[in-house]
Amino acid sequence: MQMVELETAGIVKRFGTLVANDGIDLSVARGEVHAVMGENGAGKSTLMSILYGMQAPDEGSILLRGQEVRFRSAVDAIDHGMGMVHQAFKLFNSLTVWENVVYGREPRRGPALDRRAAIAQVGALAERFRLSVDPTARVGDLSVGVRQRVEILKALYRDARILILDEPTAVLTPQERDGLFDVIRTLKADQRTILFVTHKLHEVMAITDSVTVLRQGRVTERMATRDTTPAEIIRAMTGRVVNLTVDRKPATPGAAVLDVQGLTVGTGAKPVVDKLSFRLHAGEIVGIAGVAGNGQTELIEALTGLRRPDGGRVTLSGRDVTEADVEAHRAAGLAYVPEDRAVTGTARAASAADNLLMGYQRKAPFTEGLRLNAKAVAEHARRLIGRFGVKIADETVLVGTLSGGNLQKVVIARELTHQAPLLIAEQPTRGVDVGAIEFIHAELVAERDRGRAILLVSAELSEILALSDRILVMYEGRILADLPAGAADEDRLGLLMAGRTGQAA
Ligand SMILES: Nc1ncnc2c1ncn2[C@@H]1O[C@H](COP(=O)(O)OP(=O)(O)OP(=O)(O)O)[C@@H](O)[C@H]1O
Ligand SMILES: [Mg+2]
Repeated sequence: MQMVELETAGIVKRFGTLVANDGIDLSVARGEVHAVMGENGAGKSTLMSILYGMQAPDEGSILLRGQEVRFRSAVDAIDHGMGMVHQAFKLFNSLTVWENVVYGREPRRGPALDRRAAIAQVGALAERFRLSVDPTARVGDLSVGVRQRVEILKALYRDARILILDEPTAVLTPQERDGLFDVIRTLKADQRTILFVTHKLHEVMAITDSVTVLRQGRVTERMATRDTTPAEIIRAMTGRVVNLTVDRKPATPGAAVLDVQGLTVGTGAKPVVDKLSFRLHAGEIVGIAGVAGNGQTELIEALTGLRRPDGGRVTLSGRDVTEADVEAHRAAGLAYVPEDRAVTGTARAASAADNLLMGYQRKAPFTEGLRLNAKAVAEHARRLIGRFGVKIADETVLVGTLSGGNLQKVVIARELTHQAPLLIAEQPTRGVDVGAIEFIHAELVAERDRGRAILLVSAELSEILALSDRILVMYEGRILADLPAGAADEDRLGLLMAGRTGQAA
């Protein structure tokens, strides 16, 4: 029989009048991968932070291997064998991998830190759990996927028996995700227990043993993964059937809205963006596919004014914006959903109403003369909150307290509703629940049909395929292929993304 590793009984957590956890009973067996699912704001991260000692529950108890525990802090939880990898990593970028991993628990020889022993221990731990990472590398130089491995190493160095992963794959490329799954399998084989929070049903089906579904702070369903289906999980989360395919008619492209000619970022023999040219028309969605690190980030930075290109020319609605900054791009007709919603997308210490207005406050009806029209601002915010299903008490709430997916909805709502001719959307559905994905996809298609030009960047090939009328494959800073939607499928894109055009064979 499987031992119960972790249990909670009647966990309640309130924030003012909002009940984020409303009597949660959880039971997790030793050595299993346990999915925690639920819509944005259902209470998943709140529960995880309670299990990691970062917040105390208002009611209820936690049992570890049958013993009741009360965590006074995260340090206390770590001492009890809990580990957590946060979505926003908590590493020191200027330090090396080993320094981060042993931080606070350094091996010593006499009074001095034993550097050699630390590096050896971290290296051995990495090898044992197949977390390929160089202990002496500087964290700031590492990719997101590798940094996540460092966080996992750090937890394992503190001998975590239960590892909490809150949306660990949201920031990973498909390749990095496969690597993480290998690590999870190794941990499981070592009888470690994993709590896995995700919105991605195929991941739940692929890697987990059982699922607990939360809805409005309560458990609605517990099931063994092998006995359930994605449709059943969706029903438990939302109480309805969600349409996972996107309904759309063929595009009817109009005039060119964005014209990119010979765009170059970087100097030298191999620029990151290498004399890249394409046109994006009104009424079409163009998707950019590519393995991360092939110039997509720099291309978008150059197109949004975050970075000055080193060559070429960019025209937006007939205006030359090659040298323009972000504000000038907005004025010329750019709406932008940035990949990083927490840092560049929102101001956490400002209200939802202010965030929903950000960048557009100088326009009517929000400004009258020099004054902001508070009533118009509030009404606008309430309308968007309702339409986009943002879970929030009211528009005056600071967005810093919103759940991850609800923060993303705020950014999407703002950028979709200002009728700019060009929308650049990076990872538009990252971190949002299935119901919200359905809604955001439908909105993007509706905006296209209203004549907007949309440039879509997504790490999810399925999302690129579902939405794009045309797909540009980027490889080493160039566009390797420009495919109409009908000519693309995952296999063909996969080969192109690896730089294989097919002519060679
Ligand atoms: N510190 C806080 N102050 C006020 N409200 C909070 C705070 N932390 C969380 N909440 C609220 O509690 C609810 C649950 O949030 P939580 O972050 O647990 O959701 P979640 O299930 O993780 O959602 P997501 O899928 O979007 O990450 C939300 O309505 C959120 O706004
Ligand atoms: Mg969350």
